[in-house]
Amino acid sequence: MKFTTTTAFLASAMAYFIASNEVSAAPLSPLDVWDPTITSPVTGTVWVIGTEVNVTWSTDNIPPDGVSNGGHVYLAKEEVEVVSLSPTFDLVAANGSFTVTVPAVVPDDDYQIVLFGDSGNIGPSFTIVAPSS
Ligand SMILES: *[C@@H]1O[C@H](CO)[C@@H](O)[C@H](O)[C@H]1NC(C)=O
Ligand SMILES: *[C@@H]1O[C@H](CO)[C@@H](O)[C@H](O)[C@H]1NC(C)=O
Repeated sequence: MKFTTTTAFLASAMAYFIASNEVSAAPLSPLDVWDPTITSPVTGTVWVIGTEVNVTWSTDNIPPDGVSNGGHVYLAKEEVEVVSLSPTFDLVAANGSFTVTVPAVVPDDDYQIVLFGDSGNIGPSFTIVAPSS
C-alpha cells in the first residue's frame, strides 16, 4: 500500500514536472504547496540589463504552518529557466519582495520570472532591454 502511494505520488510529481517545464523544482509536498502570485514583473514591465529590480509577489495566502522550502528566483525564456537570479532565500522573511540584478541576456520580450517556494510559479512575459548608451 505504501509502495503504491509513493509510486502514484512520484508519477504525479513527474507529470507535473513535464507539464510545467520545471527543470530544477524541489520535490513537491502535497500538504503545504504555496503558489505565490507574482506581482512584478508583469506584462508591460521593462527591465534594463545591469539595473537592480524587485521581483514581488502576493503574500496574502501564506500557509499558517509556514513554507517548507526556501525561495529562489529564476529567469525563464519561453517558459524554460535560463538563469538563476538569486541564492536560495527565506521566502516568508522576504515578505513579498526580492531584489535582483538584471543579467546580460539577449534583449527580448518573452522573458518570465519563475519563483520557487514549495512549488514553482511562473509570471507573465515581460521585456528585457539593453541599457541605452
Ligand atoms: C526595491 O525594493 C526596495 C526595498 O523595498 C526599495 O528600496 C527599492 O527602491 C526598490 N527598487 C525598485 C527598482 O523599485
Ligand atoms: C511586509 O510588507 C508589508 C507591505 O509591504 C508591510 O506592511 C509589512 O510591515 C511587512 N512585514 C514585515 C514583517 O516586514
